[in-house]
Amino acid sequence: MKNNSYRGLLVWQTFFIVFGIVTSAFISRYHWKENFTKQVEEQLEHSLTTFIKVYDTKYVLLENVCNFSQKKSSSRLTLIRDNGVVVCDSNTSAEEMDNHNSRPELILAKKNSWGSAIRYSDTLKQDMFYGAIQWKTEKGIFYLRESIQISAMERTLTKVDKYIFIVLIPFLIVFSILSILLWHRYEVKKQEQLDRLKVDLVSNISHEVRTPLTSIKGFVQLLVSTESELSPNAKESLSKIEKNTNRLNSLFTEILDLNKVEKRKTTTIEEVDLEIMVDSILSNMNLIYKEKNIETVLNLESNIIKSDYELLEHILVNLIENAFKYNKDNGEVTITSSSAGSKTLIIISDTGNGIAPNHQERIFERFYRVDDARNSGTGGSGLGLAIVKHSVSHLNGEITFESKIDFGSHFKVLI
Ligand SMILES: Nc1ncnc2c1ncn2[C@@H]1O[C@H](COP(=O)(O)OP(=O)(O)OP(=O)(O)O)[C@@H](O)[C@H]1O
Ligand SMILES: [Mg+2]
Repeated sequence: MKNNSYRGLLVWQTFFIVFGIVTSAFISRYHWKENFTKQVEEQLEHSLTTFIKVYDTKYVLLENVCNFSQKKSSSRLTLIRDNGVVVCDSNTSAEEMDNHNSRPELILAKKNSWGSAIRYSDTLKQDMFYGAIQWKTEKGIFYLRESIQISAMERTLTKVDKYIFIVLIPFLIVFSILSILLWHRYEVKKQEQLDRLKVDLVSNISHEVRTPLTSIKGFVQLLVSTESELSPNAKESLSKIEKNTNRLNSLFTEILDLNKVEKRKTTTIEEVDLEIMVDSILSNMNLIYKEKNIETVLNLESNIIKSDYELLEHILVNLIENAFKYNKDNGEVTITSSSAGSKTLIIISDTGNGIAPNHQERIFERFYRVDDARNSGTGGSGLGLAIVKHSVSHLNGEITFESKIDFGSHFKVLI
């Protein structure tokens, strides 16, 4: 819940910052355009005012005023009478032009002696900036209008746009990537913290439970030694207590083992004699599963391998124990090892019940057990293969298996 609200906050924060940057970029661009237009207008007004001041209408014909437009530049001059009739134009012949009385810049100039407008020119077929000034001469009132192609202004603005986007877009991309990375790091850290907490909690509980359990086990063993004095009913109850105490004890031992393997950050690689390790496990299993009368076949090709002793022991103990536990009476357990490049392939096969295909995908999950009639009474906790999986992954190894109902299973470990 807390995590979600933090994520929501981060998304909103990123959204508002990006929105803020984009909006301020567009507002700046708008103000820049306004300022630019204003400046163009002021310059135009200034140059036209100066022009009519120095143009001596006594000696030079008014009609010649349009010739003063610089042909190469993008500006155009038009002289208009007070009644809207065009006297001359630097680009077009005056006769072809209609009455200009309704032109917005002219209407404004008549009122304020100066007027400007941006609009589409039918004569030049493009957007133009128009500035018109009132010109009082001895020959009457005239309006001198200069027009500039907007495209010249727009070109400058496009450049500004380009700069905005060259700077803004990479910045936004970097900013968004940084936000995502930060958020991801936070999530990973949070998950790690949570996992650590879970592991620590389980570990603490298991340790706490094991102390009284050991004491109970001690008392049960004491009672077992006085078995001859007990009634048959008490004997039966005692045997149940002993069985369940042992089950509880092995459950907490396995929880702690899994916990330890999960917590492991490093491995201690040393030379391990596979044969000694397997022999010791087998003699233990032969003792525990004595009644099953399992035959063991060993075929160890590479005996000394480089591995982490504790992790390898976890792998072999659990796989060999399963091979005994889920085997048929008088069955067989085969253990082979061979070198595979720089690694070793260990195969543990049994002639037991096998694992049904619908369970195969889940057997490595913690606490997962195939609880059917065949396994009833085996009394495992479903943690063995989870410990194996973690140990194999710590050793950068691989584990696969093949299993056929009623024929048995082969567990292959490559480490
Ligand atoms: N060699 C095997 N043959 C048949 N079934 C197997 C074999 N190995 C594992 N299984 C099935 O996979 C399940 C999970 O095995 P796992 O070793 O994790 O737990 P477990 O043996 O039940 O308990 P424990 O924690 O004591 O090992 C077992 O309950 C069993 O049903
Ligand atoms: Mg097991």
